[in-house]
Amino acid sequence: MAAPTPASADWWRQATVYQIYPRSFADANGDGVGDLPGITSRVDYLARLGVDAVWLSPFYPSALADGGYDVDDYRNVDPRLGTLDDFDAMVAALHAAGIRLIVDIVPNHSSNRHEWFQAALAAPKGSPERDRYVFRDGLGEDGELPPADWVSMFGGPAWTAVGDGQWYLHLFAPEQPDFNWHSEEVRADFLKTLRFWSDRGVDGFRVDVAHALAKDLPADLPSQAELEAMDKATGLHPLWDRDEVHQIYADWRRVFNEYDPPRIAVAEAWVNPPSRRARYASAEGLGQAFNFDLLEADFDADAFRGIITENLEQAALSGSSTTWVFSNHDVVRHATRYGLPPNGDEPRKYNRAWLLSHGTEPELDAERGLRRARAATLLMLALPGCAYLYQGEELGLGEVATIPDEARQDPTFFRSPGVDVGRDGCRVPLPWTVEGPSFGFGTGPAHLPQPDWFGKCSVEAESGDEASTLSLYREALGLRHELQADETLEWVDYPAKDVLHVRRSNGWEAVANFSAETLPLPEGVPLLSSGPFDAGELPGETTVWLRRE
Ligand code: NOJ
Repeated sequence: MAAPTPASADWWRQATVYQIYPRSFADANGDGVGDLPGITSRVDYLARLGVDAVWLSPFYPSALADGGYDVDDYRNVDPRLGTLDDFDAMVAALHAAGIRLIVDIVPNHSSNRHEWFQAALAAPKGSPERDRYVFRDGLGEDGELPPADWVSMFGGPAWTAVGDGQWYLHLFAPEQPDFNWHSEEVRADFLKTLRFWSDRGVDGFRVDVAHALAKDLPADLPSQAELEAMDKATGLHPLWDRDEVHQIYADWRRVFNEYDPPRIAVAEAWVNPPSRRARYASAEGLGQAFNFDLLEADFDADAFRGIITENLEQAALSGSSTTWVFSNHDVVRHATRYGLPPNGDEPRKYNRAWLLSHGTEPELDAERGLRRARAATLLMLALPGCAYLYQGEELGLGEVATIPDEARQDPTFFRSPGVDVGRDGCRVPLPWTVEGPSFGFGTGPAHLPQPDWFGKCSVEAESGDEASTLSLYREALGLRHELQADETLEWVDYPAKDVLHVRRSNGWEAVANFSAETLPLPEGVPLLSSGPFDAGELPGETTVWLRRE
């Protein structure tokens, strides 16, 4: 495997980045929760897989009201996950293996246990302490009513009373108070945090809800219905994707560029139209932005063609490379999504009804889901741009729909009773061995229950099996390094509309058959395939890589 050149400032443009959700990756001390020494102990696995970088979801001290996206202290490690020394050891081990590290940063909100929020609660109305967050007087005679009827992203109200007539804003859980980014102190503190981790050797940052930091709340707050009716594409919405958010990222960019090579950043920015991603992805801003279009799409050739074309165009406009994502810690795993029928108007990424039925309704065709997931991934890995993988997808893991209610952790479950069970099903600790307590995740049980079928999807089970999804990912990532070419893509005509045929400038081709029928395989030397195939044939729901000079 060719390791990325240490000095290259462009290492991220066509990298393969592997997301680790640390509490569910590997548990070194047997307490049921994954930790940093667990990651360090698996660096060989990551190197063998062939990833260029790891994106580490939050590992900071946290009461886990939202899986760690409720941060108590931005410049420390959760004691359950290790120490700063463990962090340094992990960075050293990753770097020694040629793997970069991107850490998650959560700037829209802290946790309610953050010392600043505690200080805000203890301080009076109008104090500088309260000014670091978004406090408002309540309505009604004594402020007993919320300032507005806003609904949080996890369901339930977005304003919580603090007992003196004031309320604070939390776009997510009540344990996640939103920062006031008009505060110079807030801005300065995040620059300090960026330097703190950059000085410790991190190579970049994944920026949580990057499009929500800048807010402009009028004295007279709009209602929830009015908020929803407002156009988010103007840069003027009171909450989302405001143009001045880019002033914040211009400051961050100056910090990134103090380092050699410059630190990178990728925005989690759910913005529309896609052209609004360009500023997040620009070289004056964060430099890269997630494109979640594939994650939201059906397994459909037309949809994929449109998404690929548009995102390559958008990337060219921003000067960044595009990103591709099928799965992460917030959505139903793609091997499951593709095995379920389309679910009406409900976003495919959530499959809420299926999860509520504990995975019984509608019926899942798991074999088909995995076949399609492998085909889709192999196509994606042949595209120009940066590929983000989520831990466990390399094992072909499906969503765990059988978690009992009493074991659930996601705030969505508690705040949307009977509507949404939330995201625990993609966060179940990884199976490393065929048997054993927690399938080798640790020496004890896992913090979320693993189903019996995890053993056969374990690293141990798949490592020696040439047909396994793990073997496919290993081969694909190895070849992707060898074959990587410039960022252009050519579409090759294929006589059936359900087949996408693409070519890179060096003759590396991918042919993806989205139909269920076997069709002719174009000429060329087959390099890798997402499923079994006979000479000259392209089976249904299969992708083949070819080489043509
Ligand atoms: C996006 C993260 O991916 C998600 O897990 C989290 O709940 C929200 N942001 C709030 O931080």
